Amino acid sequence: MSNNPPNRTLPPGSTIGILGGGQLGRMLVLAAARLGYRCRIFEPQVDCPASHVADHLAAGYDDLAALDAFAKSVDVITLEFENVPIAAAERLAETVPVRPGAQALAVAQDRAEEKTFLSLAGIETAPWAPVASQADLEAALDKIGRPAVLKTARLGYDGKGQAGIKTDTDIDGLFDTLGGVPCVLEGFVDFDLEISVLAARGLDGQIACFEPVENIHRDHILHRTLVPAGVAADIAAKAENIARTTIAALDYIGLLAVEMFVLRDGRVLVNEMAPRPHNSGHWTIDGAATSQFEQVVRAVCGLPLGDTTRVGRCEMVNLIGSESDDWEKFLGEPGARLHLYGKAESRPGRKMGHVNYVWPEKA
Ligand SMILES: Nc1ncnc2c1ncn2[C@@H]1O[C@H](COP(=O)(O)OP(=O)(O)O)[C@@H](O)[C@H]1O
Ligand SMILES: [Mg+2]
Repeated sequence: MSNNPPNRTLPPGSTIGILGGGQLGRMLVLAAARLGYRCRIFEPQVDCPASHVADHLAAGYDDLAALDAFAKSVDVITLEFENVPIAAAERLAETVPVRPGAQALAVAQDRAEEKTFLSLAGIETAPWAPVASQADLEAALDKIGRPAVLKTARLGYDGKGQAGIKTDTDIDGLFDTLGGVPCVLEGFVDFDLEISVLAARGLDGQIACFEPVENIHRDHILHRTLVPAGVAADIAAKAENIARTTIAALDYIGLLAVEMFVLRDGRVLVNEMAPRPHNSGHWTIDGAATSQFEQVVRAVCGLPLGDTTRVGRCEMVNLIGSESDDWEKFLGEPGARLHLYGKAESRPGRKMGHVNYVWPEKA
């Protein structure tokens, strides 16, 4: 149980604690189970997707007694939800290794911290400025120019907490419409395409990357992922290098997703990163020798990282809201591999499942 020497390999049979109980946690549990691991979920919400497949402790991240009990009942902790309060991650780490650790989490939770970290690591992002008031916003917009995007520094996802600023947008009072919280202003990037690279780093410092994938968004939500990405080999190499540099600089254990913009002139800018399995890696469940979820298990348990080779051309299509009502259609479609998350209610914009397709490589 607890008191593991920090770098000991945790063999099959060990228990992995997962912070967060959404679909990413659910798929992580399934991958862990396949390798003979047990999982326990820490998630405030009852009946969360991961609770259907693993032991679940429903408590808040401010419940110190629950955090301590959870930490004592597992051998290592990882996460599927990046907004775990840092104080909670630190508290857990007093008892059991938390991978990735609180420091990497702190960087990934805050867009300003993230961009500052990236620039120190020599990695390019869109032009940006921190914004803490309407006056800051006006000054930042003068500096960065239009079009631009105002984003809350924390807690954004699926395009939530963002406001686009076009050439004619009236920005009067715009800072308050995002809640009056710390923000960043980013120059709008006229990208050619969006890609992501998922990198894993093991206890011994070994790094393995899945190849870059191409991401197509609809209403700011990931719609499809195409593998391989439609980029030249030199761009793919550049993107993988960025992910490697980032994960090494963070001294990170686990899987890190790095979202990037590819520009027409061949530049690759980092948009944001996620310290957990990522929607753009769901194709790996059916399309790679090792899935992104198995890779998390391997990394945080101190096992050798798995082979990231792709087994064919792949496409992942998200099922958003009522799209999952068509489950019978997907079940009947040759080649379609259906994944549903067990969510009782399909609200608009909610990720309900996905479908993976794997085709033979083009001759
Ligand atoms: N600076 C930008 N320029 C152009 N498009 C952007 C910019 N920032 C975000 N976007 C678009 O919005 C999507 C969501 O923004 P992102 O920063 O990734 O937030 P999140 O995924 O946390 O909602 C991106 O994948 C991209 O399509
Ligand atoms: Mg994003």
